[in-house]
Amino acid sequence: MTVSTPQNVFAERIGRIEVSATMAVAAEAAKLRAQGVKVVDFGAGEPHFATPRHIKDAAIAAIEANFSKYTVVPGIPDVRKAIVERHAADFGSNYTIDEAIFTGGGKLALFNTIQILIDHGDEVILPVPYWVSFKDIVQYAGGKVVFLETSEAESFRITADAIERAVTPRTKAIILNSPSNPAGSIVPAGDLERIVRLAHEKGIFLLLDECYVYLNYAGKPFSGGSCTWAKDHLVILGSLSKTYSMTGWRAGFALAPKPIVANLNKLQGQSTSNATSFVQKAAVAALTSSQQCVAEFRTEFIELRDYMLAKLRAIPGVTCTTPEGAFYVYPNLSAYIGKGGISNSMELASRMLSEAHVATVPGEAFGTREHVRISYPVTKETIDEGTRRMGEFLTGLK
Ligand SMILES: Cc1ncc(COP(=O)(O)O)c(C=O)c1O
Repeated sequence: MTVSTPQNVFAERIGRIEVSATMAVAAEAAKLRAQGVKVVDFGAGEPHFATPRHIKDAAIAAIEANFSKYTVVPGIPDVRKAIVERHAADFGSNYTIDEAIFTGGGKLALFNTIQILIDHGDEVILPVPYWVSFKDIVQYAGGKVVFLETSEAESFRITADAIERAVTPRTKAIILNSPSNPAGSIVPAGDLERIVRLAHEKGIFLLLDECYVYLNYAGKPFSGGSCTWAKDHLVILGSLSKTYSMTGWRAGFALAPKPIVANLNKLQGQSTSNATSFVQKAAVAALTSSQQCVAEFRTEFIELRDYMLAKLRAIPGVTCTTPEGAFYVYPNLSAYIGKGGISNSMELASRMLSEAHVATVPGEAFGTREHVRISYPVTKETIDEGTRRMGEFLTGLK
């Protein structure tokens, strides 16, 4: 017998958000796999590499040394020092360890930042296509998301002019994710500096999600954090997940002015407390050792991106922008929407999973209706098999 839960049991705010689409795809693919189906998984947003040996060794050594108790809430001084020194060395920022907090993942750093900054009715500018969680996290805090359309012909790049036009007296924050998930687009350095200046002059917070900052294939990685004169209005949100292939470890951080970090610390102290103690030691190893592994990952991602693009573009009717970073491609499948009873990318992704056994994430999760997101950190054989199945499925739609 099922017992139904009355509608009003749950707080109103939980009704404002949706189940993460990427998590939903992963669950559906796992269900098929449990039935013995061989699913080609282009859904998961994570590198396929093992976490590098020296990082694993640092965690093992910390556990063996019984470094397994609570730490101070923002993370041990060593991890905060490693974060600020890495960022300063790579991007010329000048944060102090009191301006850094280590969190259980970049998503938590973002979630907590939004919770402490955004009030009911505050406007937050968000370029489309956006990473699925930005919208829900802002809405959970009661904020109003102001969606900013970008042009596919311009590779979904956001410009300073477009941001400027979207600013109103109610704008509290702008979220930028460059390179971006899902389209791999990069805010050009000149535009980024203009956006930083605009935010600083207008007193708007610029939240820079740098989850993929090192996976920039168009040139040398850069960060808005190098604009040290605008520090009061910048929050850098970082993650070790993709940079060091540590998605399951849950390691992220925020760099921000002291009052913001003090409030992040207060919120973290009343929720998760410190991030896992031995993961902090592993993070120190990741951030302070040779960055050779990051360069190697980057080289392989570029090769896989080009391989994936060639295979996809060989499917009749499929077009795709060339992503300049991150590890996703965002093909336009509009040639097939309207065929086979499929009216949007949600239905297309769902049918492709159940009929061709290829997992992708529908564009609706990122604010567009004609695309799917394909994550390409897989083997070339998997790309061959997955794109073959996609091609057969799509061209078979009548
Ligand atoms: C744009 C973006 N930001 C943040 C995250 C969160 O990363 P994590 O919480 O694993 O550090 C992700 C993960 O997919 C992402 O794509």
